Amino acid sequence: MDFDDVIARRKMVRNFTTDPVDRAALDRILDAARRAPSAGFTQGWGFLVLVGPEETERFWRSTFSADRRATFGWPGLFDAAVIVVPCSNESAYLNRYAEPDKGWTDRDPTRWPVPYWHIDTGFAAMQLQLAVVNEGLGALFFGIFGQRVDAVRAEFGIPNQFMPIGAIAIGHPANRDVPSPSLRRGHKPRDEVVHYGDW
Ligand SMILES: Cc1cc2nc3c(=O)[nH]c(=O)nc-3n(C[C@H](O)[C@H](O)[C@H](O)COP(=O)(O)O)c2cc1C
Repeated sequence: MDFDDVIARRKMVRNFTTDPVDRAALDRILDAARRAPSAGFTQGWGFLVLVGPEETERFWRSTFSADRRATFGWPGLFDAAVIVVPCSNESAYLNRYAEPDKGWTDRDPTRWPVPYWHIDTGFAAMQLQLAVVNEGLGALFFGIFGQRVDAVRAEFGIPNQFMPIGAIAIGHPANRDVPSPSLRRGHKPRDEVVHYGDW
């Protein structure tokens, strides 16, 4: 698919059919994530991949109570064939930057102006989402909050050093999708966010 089309078509999808995702396509999508840039080429990320209703149901049970599910505005989200949980690994970066070519042997996290472990995992998640569009599929990146992070960790045995940065539902878009109310805000105009020369 043409790059401009991928960018234009990428919209969060919250209503999926139950059709499975082709395994080769899923591998290409995950390979695109692995090709994302990372500080010091640390690649301090990991991706929990849940395929099919049995595995995805374990995720939904860990993150949505029965009550919340019954009243949720986007029930077609639960039909997504695949869920990917991208996880960032802070310790991988502290260790990588303690190597001789970097030299931050104190492994002090306050050296970091922003946490590159989350940034790199976010880059990978974005690359993954673009690859999803390129495969003619749809995706939703969504948050996992509070105690649900621990519930997902426990359910799937995610090691302590890995932090889920959210989750990505992937599947075949269903015909009708209820748009997020957030979209009413519209894209901010260029001159509000872009600052040529001086801020
Ligand atoms: C970090 C992040 C967290 C998000 N969390 C949620 C979420 O929890 N639930 C949801 O429905 N959408 C979530 N979204 C999707 C945004 O609402 C969406 O990207 C935004 O409204 C713009 O719409 P678009 O991506 O379709 O262009 C999230 C997006 C990002 C980047």
